[in-house]
Amino acid sequence: MSKDWWVESAAGIPKLITETPGPKSRIMHANTTRYMKGLSSQVKLFPVCFEEGYGITLTDVDGNKYLDFSSGIYVTSLGHCHPKVSEAVSHWAGKLMNAHDFTTPVKEKLMEKMASILPGKLNAIQLYSDGTASVEAAIRAARAITNKHEFISAYRDFHGKTMAAVSCAQMYRGETYSYGPSRAPGFYMVPRPDPYRPLWTKPDGSIDTDAYIKFYDTFILEGTVGNVAAFVLEPAQGWGGSIFPPEDFFPKLKKLCEKYKILIYDDEVLAGMGRTGEWLTLNHWEVIPDIVTFGKSFGNGFPVTAMVVAEENGSALEKISASSSYGGNPMACAAALASIEVIEEEDILENVHTVGKFFMKRMQKMKEEHPIVGDVKGKGFLLGIELVKDKKTKEPFDEAGNLVYQKAFRKGLAWIPAGHILRMSPPLIMNEKYASMGMNIIEEAITEVEKEFGYK
Ligand SMILES: Cc1ncc(COP(=O)(O)O)c(C=O)c1O
Repeated sequence: MSKDWWVESAAGIPKLITETPGPKSRIMHANTTRYMKGLSSQVKLFPVCFEEGYGITLTDVDGNKYLDFSSGIYVTSLGHCHPKVSEAVSHWAGKLMNAHDFTTPVKEKLMEKMASILPGKLNAIQLYSDGTASVEAAIRAARAITNKHEFISAYRDFHGKTMAAVSCAQMYRGETYSYGPSRAPGFYMVPRPDPYRPLWTKPDGSIDTDAYIKFYDTFILEGTVGNVAAFVLEPAQGWGGSIFPPEDFFPKLKKLCEKYKILIYDDEVLAGMGRTGEWLTLNHWEVIPDIVTFGKSFGNGFPVTAMVVAEENGSALEKISASSSYGGNPMACAAALASIEVIEEEDILENVHTVGKFFMKRMQKMKEEHPIVGDVKGKGFLLGIELVKDKKTKEPFDEAGNLVYQKAFRKGLAWIPAGHILRMSPPLIMNEKYASMGMNIIEEAITEVEKEFGYK
């Protein structure tokens, strides 16, 4: 299949034929929210109702066509309804939907394919059906491998919404999430290095990763009972705002973990499978994790996730059964296998490297030219623009973030930033033409917001 399968469908986007959200969107959203509760801030701020997605285009129920800059939510990374993935799923939907955790021909192929693309000896695999379930499995695996029970995770990382996953992440304050009890016993959090907002700096003002590692070392000795099974970390913070650690952070953390025989659990649910130009984002720093999880784009929209450990720890997985109602069903295996094959056949990693550089150059220019753009960050197609009230004080500018979000959406950009960091996760098939189109829309929206708030 040609790499350009989506190009014709994108001609002429964005194409807006009503005000947005349009009249049908508003009615359908109102009908739905009579019953459906707890929607995200993005939906509340822009209540559009989508009907179709193909490649890099989303179409709403009023017939408006948008340029997609979010891939669902980091999910449809190879484009909406990639024909190869859709065909693979529908083949098994007509042949065999579920077979417990028995082997199927498509599972056999997926296992072999995964073992061939993953670094080191990461080849002991379990399959699940959402990211959080794979995170829970990773926690169980870490316990089973080490016979230890404590976990250290990092401020502003996100790992899902069940008890262990929530215990590894920020407990929100304020009205929405202030109910207790808080994290489960044995789960601790530490700060991780954010180059734009460093907690510890060297005399020259640059971030001091040694100080972070020294703090972790002290924390392990003083703040735990000496039974830490794993450090639980996103390779780059996705939900937290596309924040990447300094280049030397993970290699140093690996050494510390070796000293205390602590595993590195790398949660690649959001950042893995090509989003930053590598199968694993951790590959950028040449660190091989002990445990890794994949989700979101793993099946390009079909719910399928994976938890993987190194071969030498595979026997420990026998202690934690992989069987679940949906994990590894034939449709799920077909979606994941087809998605990996597409990444290979369409040279997706190469595209992410090339167009990723274009994105970064463009964002750097925005940082130079716009008073409210405090920082720009990212690798490949995992990108962020951080808005601040003042470049010196770096005070987060949430109101501007929300306005830029709405304005850009009204101009035809479907995306999902939250608060002051404009997160972007465009489909990995996108070329420079549409990357530039999306950036132009965002820049226009930023310029308008700056004027409204009296800048320039
Ligand atoms: C890094 C990371 N881990 C786990 C999860 C949970 O995945 P899911 O929403 O599929 O349960 C998410 C979801 O955003 C995530 O970003």
